[in-house]
Amino acid sequence: MQKENKKAEENINVIGIKVLEQNGINIDEIIKLLVYNASVEFTAYYYFTNLRMHCTGQEGESIKGVIEDARLEDLSHFESCLSRIYELGGILPIDAQEFIRMSGCEFLQLPSPKRTDLKEILKKCLKAEQGAIVNWNRLCNLTIGKDPATYDVAKDILREEIEHESWFLELLYERPSGHMRRKYPGERPHTHKHSRSLNI
Ligand SMILES: [Fe+2]
Ligand SMILES: [Fe+2]
Repeated sequence: MQKENKKAEENINVIGIKVLEQNGINIDEIIKLLVYNASVEFTAYYYFTNLRMHCTGQEGESIKGVIEDARLEDLSHFESCLSRIYELGGILPIDAQEFIRMSGCEFLQLPSPKRTDLKEILKKCLKAEQGAIVNWNRLCNLTIGKDPATYDVAKDILREEIEHESWFLELLYERPSGHMRRKYPGERPHTHKHSRSLNI
């Protein structure tokens, strides 16, 4: 938690935090992970936008649709973190560059030398989804039975990340995903209730 914020919190009785401490939750650890996960989702949203633009040709056209579904759900995942960060007394970094840097998502930059290499683009997308599963699973493990509000967000995001992984596994390795396309881009069946401000 940033210093100024912690100071401001000292004199305020926040029962929503106190009960979590009594439940054995390390609040600073949860805030740190929520902010980190938010940075990964935000940065992945940006990079997926650029990767999607480079899915060219006949084959690229169908891949575009799948990346679009995953991309818009990453934006939903970023939004889904926000109220919980502030309810717990955290804040986003003041410097946006710090926020992007902490994500460690540089690997999602366009493939080189061929920017439109579809297989390489899909491999990057898969790696991002698998990293996200690890991140959200970690937060689920830390909050289950102790912090129901954060757990509710983490498990719903995890559910979508697992679907995203299966989509890219299917496209790369022909492993059937049971994939039903979203009814519309940005449907976000599991995180819709956490990101209502997106209004789609
Ligand atoms: Fe995500
Ligand atoms: Fe995802």
